Amino acid sequence: MDIQVIKTEPYFDQICGTSGLRKKVSVFKQPNYLENFVQSLFNSLDGFEGKTLIIGGDGRYFNNQAIQSIIKLAIANQFGRLIIGQNGILSTPAASHLITKREAFGGIILSASHNPGGPNYDFGIKYDTADGAPAPQSLTDKITEHAKTIDHYWSVAIKDVKLSEIGEETIGNTVIEIVDSVKDYAEYMQEIFDFDAIRNLFKSGFKMHYDALNAVTGPYASYIFETLLGAEEGTVLNKTPLPDFGGLHPEPNLTYAKHFADMMYQDDAPDFGAASDGDGDRYMILGKKFFVTPSDSLSIIAKYMEEIPFYKGRFYGIARSMPTAPAVDSVAKSKSLPIYATPTGWKFFSSLLNAKKISLCGEESFGTGSFHLCEKDGIWAILFWLNIIAITNKSVQELTYDLWNEYGRTFTSTQSYEGLEIEPTNMMLDALKDKLESLEGQTFYNHKIVQTSIFNYTDPITGDEAKNQGYIIDFEDGRIFCRLSGTGSSGATLRMYYSCRTNRKELFSLDPVVALDDFIKAANEILQIKEFTGKDAPTVVT
Ligand code: G1P
Ligand code: ZN
Repeated sequence: MDIQVIKTEPYFDQICGTSGLRKKVSVFKQPNYLENFVQSLFNSLDGFEGKTLIIGGDGRYFNNQAIQSIIKLAIANQFGRLIIGQNGILSTPAASHLITKREAFGGIILSASHNPGGPNYDFGIKYDTADGAPAPQSLTDKITEHAKTIDHYWSVAIKDVKLSEIGEETIGNTVIEIVDSVKDYAEYMQEIFDFDAIRNLFKSGFKMHYDALNAVTGPYASYIFETLLGAEEGTVLNKTPLPDFGGLHPEPNLTYAKHFADMMYQDDAPDFGAASDGDGDRYMILGKKFFVTPSDSLSIIAKYMEEIPFYKGRFYGIARSMPTAPAVDSVAKSKSLPIYATPTGWKFFSSLLNAKKISLCGEESFGTGSFHLCEKDGIWAILFWLNIIAITNKSVQELTYDLWNEYGRTFTSTQSYEGLEIEPTNMMLDALKDKLESLEGQTFYNHKIVQTSIFNYTDPITGDEAKNQGYIIDFEDGRIFCRLSGTGSSGATLRMYYSCRTNRKELFSLDPVVALDDFIKAANEILQIKEFTGKDAPTVVT
């Protein structure tokens, strides 16, 4: 097998964000763009020759073309075995699970997660290490460094590999194995949850709708919910992964999955509604005419964690990302468990999970996971809910009110301003930084600011430092947190996170945006969002 040395020139924008490299498809389609990044990744790794690499993606436009290029580079770079999801499909959690199950060196996942797909939209590539966790900052920094000086990559001239048939073939020194994308993951879920109990729930007439949003989870959900658990046919909607997600936005929240939320608010809505994002690591939970916020969902899972035998005696602690409202802190406290607040991005949870400091972690952006694998996991979270419902026989709404009655209700709202110009947005945050300290003691709309800070984080396990991860404005009775998104592919996205808490039961049914109105007004006054960005309203509210 002749290994070709292909000359190339560096691109200087191959910088990883919150979750790998994400760009418009047109950027990825530039000559050698993907190959440069993949070779830079391989150049940043040591000792993978002869070892296994997992490859798969969320099926979006450019998925399989990218996989064919990666196969060629991986063969030329002397990987021993490539394990690829059938038709190029692997959800992020399924890829993470395969990495550890098959003792791979690592895995490449092609996905831009919750960003839209298609020729005019986004593509992405991320790398998970041998523990199935997202590449740490030290590794992604190395990749960027290599990408700046790369002048050649290695490839082989072979025909495209057939991704549609399960089986093995050997090319050069590398075995190419095409595997069922769903089987191993589904088996693992059966080890964790009580499938008999959930099966009985469906048998008793419990109804569910699951929206795969034409993204990666369709095959997983159909097999797990309908085939294994006996939910009636038609439970899983939009179940075929499509290159452009059939025009749907692959982000399960109240703005982008409005069609689904609206369905769950009809009189004839089923008992339970759930959806996942493009690559299957996020989820949304709805009851009949009822929406569960991500921080409440995390808290409810925490509350019932040890009712699931898989976790019994293995509940070490909980982590939430700093933007996530602190609802779960009360649950942790009542169980005498440590609680950690980390920067945005799953990689910050991995070291805590691996060191058994935590068993459960979650983010405001509809991502929750546990030590069962080192990525967030949408279907796992949905199965967790189904298992809780099966053992308690309570509705989604009842479970949520139980939580509020016990710990108080935490209102949350995440408001994103997308498509902002970078410069004025940075000026706005610089101005906030300058006045941050002077805000302490000031009162806005009858709420007093008690403390402000810039969020800097030192990983308690690795000692790695992450600086300037956002601005915290703590009021006596609420909180504003803000930061810039690290997953966008163009311009800037400002994320404003609001939360406040009440123990007054008569306020529990308030609309969060109404409950948080004073804090939202205060933020606009403090940051002058409209004046700097020209936008008088957020584009996404969740
Ligand atoms: C977003 C979410 C964050 C999540 C990330 C990857 O990042 O806010 O919670 O970890 O996607 O799925 P952001 O765009 O805010 O940087
Ligand atoms: Zn995702």
